Amino acid sequence: MSLSAVVGETANQSLPRHVAIIMDGNGRWAQQRGKIRVQGHKAGVKSVREAVSFAARAGMQALTLFAFSSENWRRPEGEVNALMELFMMVLGREVDKLHQNGIRLRVIGDIARFSDRLQEKIAKAEALTAGNTGMTLNIAANYGGQWDIVRAAQQIAGEVAAGRMAPEQISEATFSDFVCMADLPAVDLLIRTGGDHRISNFVLWQLAYAELYFTPVLWPDFDEQHFSDALASFVSRERRFGCTGEQIRTLIAGQQSE
Ligand code: IPE
Ligand code: IPE
Ligand code: MG
Repeated sequence: MSLSAVVGETANQSLPRHVAIIMDGNGRWAQQRGKIRVQGHKAGVKSVREAVSFAARAGMQALTLFAFSSENWRRPEGEVNALMELFMMVLGREVDKLHQNGIRLRVIGDIARFSDRLQEKIAKAEALTAGNTGMTLNIAANYGGQWDIVRAAQQIAGEVAAGRMAPEQISEATFSDFVCMADLPAVDLLIRTGGDHRISNFVLWQLAYAELYFTPVLWPDFDEQHFSDALASFVSRERRFGCTGEQIRTLIAGQQSE
């Protein structure tokens, strides 16, 4: 396989095709203002709206937002319930606007644990926007990166058991077909707000070669300016995909003279 096939267009840093965001810091934002944590989640909705609109205008193919992790059930019941209510409300209120803007909404995660009402609302929103050809907005809800990989392994095991796939056919490429977001480009850029430097079981497989960007800004304060700072940082980096810098620069010079 040629070097350019391995690296694709992504070494030549144009804007990322797929950005994933760990929207962290809502609770601290509220506490700093003497408010209860839930007020921070409510304030974070504005940042979600702004980030979606900005990503769509920037021509991104996909934006993936971590809304609720598989570990967030450990939080106090009141906070979990408030988050679910907020999710219901936002979904109901925003889906028409997403649809008008040609955005395709998908929820990734184990939604079977959500209430029937919420599951129905998710299914309706996904069905309404399924044919849209603009940006794909993935909301990760009850999502865990390890869950995603295990689920893929289970599905592949099922294929093998049914005789539709041989163990030798399991490769990085075929495995990739079974994880969430298989039809989208891998994550190019991961942003985490709130100052912590960890992945917290967000997308793992799809993050293999992502650039990581950490900012202390708390999610409710994260605006278009912060988002474009993250993109500027991404554009300035050289992604090498295991190659040498020299190889990548030669490749890019070749692409630019075509
Ligand atoms: C992120 O903000 C939102 C969710 C996890 C749902 P947090 O609620 O984790 O805020 P901090 O990290 O406690 O400030
Ligand atoms: C990650 O934030 C999950 C979401 C943003 C939805 P957390 O606040 O749950 O992560 P930890 O607990 O600090 O690792
Ligand atoms: Mg947090």
